[in-house]
Amino acid sequence: MTAVAERPAPVIEAPKSRPVEVKIRRYNPEVSEEVTWVTYTVDAFPTDRVLNLLMKIKGEQDGTLTFRRSCAHGVCGSDAMRINGVNRLACKVLMKDMPDKLTIEPIKGLPVEKDLVVDMEPFFEAYRAVKPFLITGGNEPTKEWLQSQADRDRYDDTTKCILCAACTTSCPVFWTDGSYFGPAAIVNAHRFIFDSRDQGSEERLEILNDREGVWRCRTTFNCTEACPRGIEITKAIKEVKQALLFRRV
Ligand code: SF4
Ligand code: FES
Repeated sequence: MTAVAERPAPVIEAPKSRPVEVKIRRYNPEVSEEVTWVTYTVDAFPTDRVLNLLMKIKGEQDGTLTFRRSCAHGVCGSDAMRINGVNRLACKVLMKDMPDKLTIEPIKGLPVEKDLVVDMEPFFEAYRAVKPFLITGGNEPTKEWLQSQADRDRYDDTTKCILCAACTTSCPVFWTDGSYFGPAAIVNAHRFIFDSRDQGSEERLEILNDREGVWRCRTTFNCTEACPRGIEITKAIKEVKQALLFRRV
């Protein structure tokens, strides 16, 4: 019998941490109307997300730091913030891709309530205004309402929205005029306008034909770049504009 040579066990190097400076915009109207910037130094592993750093700061250095988060997996959409000047979900940004200095502030264009928490109500008001639900008339169907794959594909992309507001709050038109519906509302209108089972398309298109509707879009693509779900927002807005121009979906 021949002896089998023993293979050396693979050496797995433990990931190394590094100190990262995290500068955060702080605001607490219960204490002062003044905005301050506070810098914290945190040990970050390449596998940490920015959200992990915020949780470390809150847990170990400053319990008063306030931010929203829930799922920590890019699903709930609650932790959109500006990280080094770009709208991102903190739970999706890996520290291995980030420099040693981070600047974190709330998303722009919505009133700040405290630290990184903004009042989302104006955003949801625009969302509700486009009637983001299936509208049907006549008798209730007695069996499953079938749809072809091609019909489903027409709005597949816009079903992926998680309402994080990263798109709307990266839009310069929204910054200067908060009454613009904003890309997220248009994305969610698109999801139903192009659904072959829906009968509310005309109504929704009329809503978006408003002065503050789709025509305010200047096609800067900020929204498409900001979307953590990779939704082709500018394309969806263009399709809604075309449906309005030709009154055909
Ligand atoms: S379209 Fe994208 S960026 Fe805008 S709210 Fe939906 S998921 Fe967020
Ligand atoms: S915490 Fe849910 S998307 Fe980031």
